[in-house]
Amino acid sequence: MDWGMKNRLSRIIKPDTGHTVMLAIDHGYFLGPIKKLEDPGETIAPILSYADALMLTRGVLRNCVDADIQSPIVLRVSGGNSILGKDLSNEDITVAMKDALRVNASAVALSIYVGAEYEHRTLVNLSRLVDEGQDCGMPVLAVTAVGKELEKRSARFLSLACRIAAEMGVQFVKTYYCEGFEKVVKSCPVPLVIAGGPKLETEFDALRIASEAIKRGAVGVDMGRNIFQSSDPVAMLKAIRAIVHEGASFEKASAIFKGGGVKGKGKKKG
Ligand code: R5P
Repeated sequence: MDWGMKNRLSRIIKPDTGHTVMLAIDHGYFLGPIKKLEDPGETIAPILSYADALMLTRGVLRNCVDADIQSPIVLRVSGGNSILGKDLSNEDITVAMKDALRVNASAVALSIYVGAEYEHRTLVNLSRLVDEGQDCGMPVLAVTAVGKELEKRSARFLSLACRIAAEMGVQFVKTYYCEGFEKVVKSCPVPLVIAGGPKLETEFDALRIASEAIKRGAVGVDMGRNIFQSSDPVAMLKAIRAIVHEGASFEKASAIFKGGGVKGKGKKKG
């Protein structure tokens, strides 16, 4: 891996632990203003300092985030559909690599829809993005999207999607936790992070998923709704950080969450 690529990736996957806590707020690119992201700037201000990286679109970055933040940016560069459209898989590359460089992104993210109608298009988009990334030292994150077809969250399907992304040359993959997750990790030669999916009934359900995924080899999480829609997003991030960076047990993380976070301005990562 070239120096620039390595350097960018090391801003996201922390070299001291080999792990990462990414905060995803890119949902608006096809879902519009979901709960707690009506004003993304307001939502992230108190919690951003507890995350290792921020995943979002260039529109929200430029309009709602201060340019003096130190958090590495994972820029969503695929889209072109909405929740109202016929098929979520009909995505294209929506951001030029030049613009990703202009906003000083540390990685670019694109969804692939393996098994969906536009599978081919999304995979070709991915390979094109990897080529462009190689040209300028930009890591690519493949997001293995399952859209509305949640039944596809099986080790068999996710192994297939993650492995294809890795074969295409991406630097890391985002997927979902599932039963048999260790099989997904074992057959994917690049680091994996997990999404949280729609808000679960309790925060403890999300902590359980994070804990199981880390135990089974994920390098981290790239979670959104289970953090920013939580009753206490700071406490949630503190608990997830303990799991991801310190190998804390589910029980310990639950106790951290119950202890609560700092209300108001985020202070420092802990
Ligand atoms: C999809 O909307 C995005 O790629 C999200 O970044 C991803 O699904 C992670 O967010 P969440 O944990 O809310 O699923």
